[in-house]
Amino acid sequence: MRRILVTSALPYANGPIHLGHMLEYIQTDIWVRFQQSRGHQCTYVCADDAHGTAIMLRAQKDGISAEQQIARVQAEHEQDFAKFLIQFDNFSSTHSDENRALSANIYNKLKENGHINVRGIKQLFDPEKEMFLADRYVKGDCPKCKTADQYGDNCESCGATYNASELINPLSVMSGATPIEKESEHYFFKLPEFQAFLQDWTRSGTLQKEVANKLAEWLDNDLKEWDISRDAPYFGFEIPDAPGKYFYVWLDAPIGYMASFKQLCERRDDLEFDDYWQAGSDTEVYHFIGKDIINFHALFWPAMLHSAGYRTPSAVWAHGYVTVNGAKMSKSRGTFIKASTYLDHFQPEYLRYYYAAKLNNRIDDFDLNLEDFAQRVNSDLVGKVINIASRCAGFVKKAGGTLASTLPEQDLLDDAIAKGDVIAQYYEDREYGKAIREIIALADAANEYIHEKEPWALAKQEGKADEVLAICSLGINLFRQLVTYLAPVLPAMADNVTAFLNIDDLNWDSRQQVLLNHPINKFKALMSRVEKDKLDAMIEQEKADALKEASANQEATATVNTGLSEPICDEIEFDDFAKVDLRIAKIVDAQLVKGAGKLLQLTLDVGEGKTRNVLSGIKAAYAPQDLIGKHTVMVANLKPRKMKFGMSEGMVLAAGPGGDELWLLEPHAGAKPGMRVM
Ligand code: 2FM
Ligand code: ZN
Repeated sequence: MRRILVTSALPYANGPIHLGHMLEYIQTDIWVRFQQSRGHQCTYVCADDAHGTAIMLRAQKDGISAEQQIARVQAEHEQDFAKFLIQFDNFSSTHSDENRALSANIYNKLKENGHINVRGIKQLFDPEKEMFLADRYVKGDCPKCKTADQYGDNCESCGATYNASELINPLSVMSGATPIEKESEHYFFKLPEFQAFLQDWTRSGTLQKEVANKLAEWLDNDLKEWDISRDAPYFGFEIPDAPGKYFYVWLDAPIGYMASFKQLCERRDDLEFDDYWQAGSDTEVYHFIGKDIINFHALFWPAMLHSAGYRTPSAVWAHGYVTVNGAKMSKSRGTFIKASTYLDHFQPEYLRYYYAAKLNNRIDDFDLNLEDFAQRVNSDLVGKVINIASRCAGFVKKAGGTLASTLPEQDLLDDAIAKGDVIAQYYEDREYGKAIREIIALADAANEYIHEKEPWALAKQEGKADEVLAICSLGINLFRQLVTYLAPVLPAMADNVTAFLNIDDLNWDSRQQVLLNHPINKFKALMSRVEKDKLDAMIEQEKADALKEASANQEATATVNTGLSEPICDEIEFDDFAKVDLRIAKIVDAQLVKGAGKLLQLTLDVGEGKTRNVLSGIKAAYAPQDLIGKHTVMVANLKPRKMKFGMSEGMVLAAGPGGDELWLLEPHAGAKPGMRVM
């Protein structure tokens, strides 16, 4: 028996779980259930990632303490996971006593080993909020192209990267104050000392090949020390012997894996913390993660563990990002689908099946195409797998409810049992798509057999009752094989089938025992088809939520601003306003811009047969095809601007905080291209 500890990345405690997150939890849960079905001890732990500035600010915004905020979110997360049948052995929080103790313990060891460096650094500081500002909390004009309203690390317009202190006219996003530069002491982990160790570790089979190759490029160059401290105010653990300094959230987050496991060990007699974490241990530890957090798991984390004298992970497995209908998930398009919204409309196992059917062990992005989702569930699960049982069960029931004592065409069943080895290897290798293809091929073979034998026709003939029972008993045995193989993906359906078949369980080895002369129970419908109108309803629900959220944000801002009886921003003279020529434009074409992360290229009909080419940063909010034919409002007399990706002749107007929460202004019907807006 193997002893395996498995983790998924810890979700931040400041927002809901969405279907992008669910890919990873479903991928991990399938692997864990598969290992358990094979008879191994496989333990799955997780936790909420509870620390950091974002969580602190979110709590402040909602007028609650950080502890209240993380407790509320954790309850929601746990509920979503349970409903999606994600079977954690323990779900904790990084804000736990166990994590505080382990983080201090690891930090102290790093310090004793001379792997911590302390030095002063200069950073932007908000004098009103009295806090240092991370890059995403500073905005200003791009130092290269001068575009206004750019974040502290890179420019959305020209793509330049820079330091926040280089921004022109910088402003704190939090208070609107002009930040000052201020020095403070920071604590650094001396990553460069682990260069040789990491070159070796990353190449020793612990990572996917493409990931190891990517990291090799970094590891051939000089590594930088890693800044592991943040100054107060910060929600996290204070660094031992360093008042006012806190561990950066990414220091204690992976330690949260160990801490959650430690909590579990305290209530389970069969698990010992040291068996899994001491150096040289023969147990296995695997981290499932998204590709955006590889550096934290494959560089900082193993180096820290190595220095502190713990074992390193057996492997770190990354997956790609989820897109919906071919585009980044977007709130305004309704494709930023929360787990809870999905569950308002569909059973969890539809999504578990769809994800499994398309997953492989690489880091390619994963497209959740909603039409394909409906099609696969309906055709494979309802049309093929369940169909076998629903066609056969009635005839067995009519014959008294007990399966035949011998089977015709034993070959078909032997084949299905033998395929279990190939399918198991695919699961082991996280090639779930290949496993599902094998399973569905077995379902096709079973359906063909039943179709050919036509038990429904034989049942009408005299003296064929035994033959009908034998055919359908084979069908039920084949169905049992399929459900055994699908059980890691469809655990609730597997439970129902266990009851229907009147057996103890459906573990991998039990498939060798053929069900002969065995009473079964009444068959109940296991799954219904995915209806297209429910998909539409789910998207509409998300769109409505996005609008509600945007207007709540708007209201909050308006209350703050107008509460002071002051103008909501700097005033201009009427003459200045009159200079702006606003016109109705019709979007006649919209295209992606090669190489540009944020832009769409719009061709605007501006009346009198004239068109304009406009580059607009609305890619996150709109798919090009959804814009064509729409009317909007544009600034028609803006001087053409040369941008990195071409000339832009004007600007379209949109409202919202930005990113995928942007809504183009649209006039009432009747407004025609070229009409002046006043
Ligand atoms: O990227 C994220 O969502 C992080 N909260 C993941 C943390 S994983 C681990 F290291 F704790
Ligand atoms: Zn720029």
